Amino acid sequence: MFTSPLIAAPMAGGSTTTSLALAAQGAGAFVFAAGGYKTAEQLAAQIAPLRATGIDFGVNLFVPRNTALASGQAAALRRYAAMLGPTAERYGAVVPEVSLAWANPQGQDYWDEKVALLLAEPVPVVSFTFGLAPSRVVSALHNVGTRVVASVTSVAEALAAAQSGADALVVQHANAGGHTAAFLAGGEVYQGTLVDLITEVRAAVSLPLVGAGGISNARAAKEVLRAGAVAVAVGTALLRTDESGARAVHKDALADPRFTSTEVTRAFTGKPARALVNDFVRSYSATAPNAYPEVHFLTASLRAGAAATNDPQALNLWAGTGWKSAQEGPAAAVVRTLLAEL
Ligand SMILES: Cc1cc2nc3c(=O)[nH]c(=O)nc-3n(C[C@H](O)[C@H](O)[C@H](O)COP(=O)(O)O)c2cc1C
Repeated sequence: MFTSPLIAAPMAGGSTTTSLALAAQGAGAFVFAAGGYKTAEQLAAQIAPLRATGIDFGVNLFVPRNTALASGQAAALRRYAAMLGPTAERYGAVVPEVSLAWANPQGQDYWDEKVALLLAEPVPVVSFTFGLAPSRVVSALHNVGTRVVASVTSVAEALAAAQSGADALVVQHANAGGHTAAFLAGGEVYQGTLVDLITEVRAAVSLPLVGAGGISNARAAKEVLRAGAVAVAVGTALLRTDESGARAVHKDALADPRFTSTEVTRAFTGKPARALVNDFVRSYSATAPNAYPEVHFLTASLRAGAAATNDPQALNLWAGTGWKSAQEGPAAAVVRTLLAEL
């Protein structure tokens, strides 16, 4: 299913551009278009040039939450919104009213429209994160010839994904940059290495596995392949490349010695995500409620304000633990260097 041992991981929010995907694919990686946050039309525009290459590729979607927030979380959201006020003001932004309307198209990340698009105009591979696609969606994708990939962070999630009909798994370690793929409530953060996690998942399910999270060089990638993964996926390693759509302020922060650590935080979106530790993470991590995508919408204008002034201190600077190794230059060079040694 994956035509390369190296996968350019999907990075929604602007980082995975068409040119990044095409450059990584041209250099020999299997690539995913990042469908998260996009409307169906925007996703179709990203798919078209990948389809035109005639080379297999994947599309990644966020699985939306299908329940309302518990009332306690709604109260926590309102408190959080009030706390964000002074920081928003500093960036000339206003925190919007707390919206609990999760069932609208935006709150559902345009799921219905994007699934309809992928059924009408099938692609070789579709991967999901933040949850498992319902079995009827998995079956419908299978019926149009699409292979389905689920993202998991534990053996329990891998077993549930196998049960859901997935054809392969992305096994994401907590060292990964950006949002966690974790979807089972109450799961502890895995304490072992990615190699340990791949080994444990491999013993529990017989599906092809992709290892992801904190891979910053070929040596680490090779260990993951040796543990039984059919491929490794890298995200952070591509963030600073010429074709990456990450903001310049984000790219610069990844190479700025003032940023000395990453942390998993809910502060920006309400869902745990690994980011460089900046003022916003220090101020808000302890109090941010567990409410995605509500918190994402609450902080959006504040983040836009910080971006407009190129201030890295209130931006979500997603980064995996291997961020210090991320290189600038053409994405093809990063891909070729990794592939040469695999
Ligand atoms: C900026 C950024 C955005 C991401 N967006 C997505 C996404 O849209 N969908 C997804 O499944 N994973 C997403 N991820 C996670 C990656 O797919 C992958 O699991 C992760 O980058 C691997 O760890 P690494 O960053 O240490 O290489 C994102 C990661 C980053 C750094």
